[in-house]
Parts: sequence; C-alpha cells; structure tokens
Amino acid sequence: MTDLTCKIGSIEFKNPIFTASGTFGYGNDLPEFVDVSKLGAIVTKSITYEPRIGNPPPRIVETPSGMLNSIGLANIGVKRFIKDIIPIYKNFDTKIIVNIASSTNNEYVKVLKEIESISSDIIGYEINISCPNVEHGGMELGVDAELSSNLITELRKHTEKLLIVKLTPNVTDITKIAKAVESAGADAISAINTIVGMGIDIKTHKPAIYKTYAGLSGPAIKPIALAMVHKISKAVSIPIIGIGGIVNFENVVEFLLAGATAVQIGTANLRNPNAGMIIVDELNNYLDDSRIMHYSELIGKLKLYE
Ligand SMILES: Cc1cc2nc3c(=O)[nH]c(=O)nc-3n(C[C@H](O)[C@H](O)[C@H](O)COP(=O)(O)O)c2cc1C
Repeated sequence: MTDLTCKIGSIEFKNPIFTASGTFGYGNDLPEFVDVSKLGAIVTKSITYEPRIGNPPPRIVETPSGMLNSIGLANIGVKRFIKDIIPIYKNFDTKIIVNIASSTNNEYVKVLKEIESISSDIIGYEINISCPNVEHGGMELGVDAELSSNLITELRKHTEKLLIVKLTPNVTDITKIAKAVESAGADAISAINTIVGMGIDIKTHKPAIYKTYAGLSGPAIKPIALAMVHKISKAVSIPIIGIGGIVNFENVVEFLLAGATAVQIGTANLRNPNAGMIIVDELNNYLDDSRIMHYSELIGKLKLYE
C-alpha cells in the first residue's frame, strides 16, 4: 500500500489532497455523503475581520473549461467564525487551514491574532494576497514583493502555526514574490489563485459579471498553474501547494512532477463536493499499480528534454 502522508513544515497530513479556499465553504455545511475525513486538509473560504456581503450578482458565470467568479470575499467575519464554526472542527478528522484575506496589513494581523487568542484545532493559515475581486488589499499586495514580504514578516511574529502564502498568477514574475515570502518566513507557498478574466453578454452588451473583471478558474488555467508551480519550485526550497484546474488524479501527478508537495481542488468541488475524496482513491490506486512506495517519490521528478 502506497504511503500518502504529506509533511509541510512540522505538520503531517494524511494525504496531499486539500480543498481550495472558497470552493468548499467552511467545510461545515456539506451533504451527508461527503466524508471530509478522506481529505488531507480543508482550506476555509477567506475570512476577513468584519463580515462582508461580497459583490452584487451576477458574480459567477461558466466559461469553456472553467468559470469566472467575483464573489468579493463574502464571509461571516472572524468573530462569528470563531464562535460558530471553529468549535465544529473538533469533530473533523482532517486538518483545518484558515484562509485569511484583508484590505490592510493591520487587518490581516488582527484576524490572525483573534484566532491565535483561542485554543483551537486550526493547524495553520493560508494568507490570501491574491484575490482579484476586491478593490483594496488582495492582489495589490500580491503583485509587490516588498509589500508581500513586509506582511509575512509581521504575521510571522504572531504565530508558530503553519503560514502558507497564496500567490496570484497576475504578475510578470511570480518567482520574485515567492522568494520574498520565503525569506520573510513563510512555511509554504500555494499557487495559483484565479487569473483575471472577463465575459460579455451579447444580448445586453453588459459584462457577464457585475464587477466587469473576475477570476478565471478550472481546467482552462491548469497549464498556467503548472508552469507557475514549476518556476516557483526552481526558485524556493519551501514546499509548494499546487492549485489550478485539477479534476482527476492524472492532474495531481502532473503537479507533483512539476514540483508540488500537495495540491488543492477548487472548481471541481462545485460540480461534485466529493471530487477531492475520489481523487484520493484514484491516486492511491495509481501509485499502488505503479509500485510507488511513497507519493513523494514523484515530487519534482519532471524529466526535461536535454
Ligand atoms: C467560487 C470561487 C470562490 C473562491 N474564493 C476564494 C477565496 O475566498 N479565497 C481564496 O484564496 N481563493 C478563492 N478562490 C480561488 C480558489 O481557491 C483557487 O485558487 C482557484 O479557483 C484555482 O483553482 P481551481 O482551478 O481548481 O478552481 C475561489 C475560487 C472560486 C471558483
């Protein structure tokens, strides 16, 4: 039987298949047939300090091989998250990573400190410096190496838990940001968030999404995500969590070969919230059939042409 255990920082996950932020809610209101204990981890939807209602509709639209979204970080805010959601995680047989988003450095720190101030089963944070759907913070930070570095340096002072930084692909050179957050103390990098895109309704002549620009996700972005993960893996030595268009175990193997230590399943959950669990089983069978003892034997093993 293949060993799927996955280590990031000091934390061991039962396997390298996680859910991606914003595509699995807080993990608390899923249908009964969804068994979260099969997942390596759940990454919560982004949490901000104050509750947010997000952007007006339409904020989701399907595209060929993907979708556009401009949710605008709708969430219940950190205080309600602590009161109503965190206690539920006691019953979860999987690791929980809280994704944090904000408009200012100070607000990121405030959210993190609120969660740090309670005793909980949260094992770490994914810092979203890459949201394309908010006016302030988010991607503004994620495209600037110095701003990103300052934020991670500050957050590092307030937690010993896992600090994962989620990068945006909407940059000229993603490796600059990756190196900056590694030097600032990040334990891992997750990549990628959505790519800025747009749709147009030719009946109304209006943008398909209320906010005009939105984030493209799904299989359409997988080749871009793979290239970014591969480039980052050559630039840093901390683990990378690959995200972007994964729908089956073959896609996971691609990300591992490109240099990812773990992956997150996003848009595929909207079609089937069991997508991650199915992929865990598929990956297990594939590795068993290939007589691979530990999945990590594939990490970074891409064979380049001479
Ligand atoms: C509907 C929707 C909501 C999302 N919300 C968030 C969010 O709140 N925070 C975040 O960091 N990423 C968010 N994302 C981005 C995903 O976590 C992921 O990085 C991206 O969709 C690429 O992966 P995929 O192609 O597998 O979906 C969202 C994506 C979708 C489709």
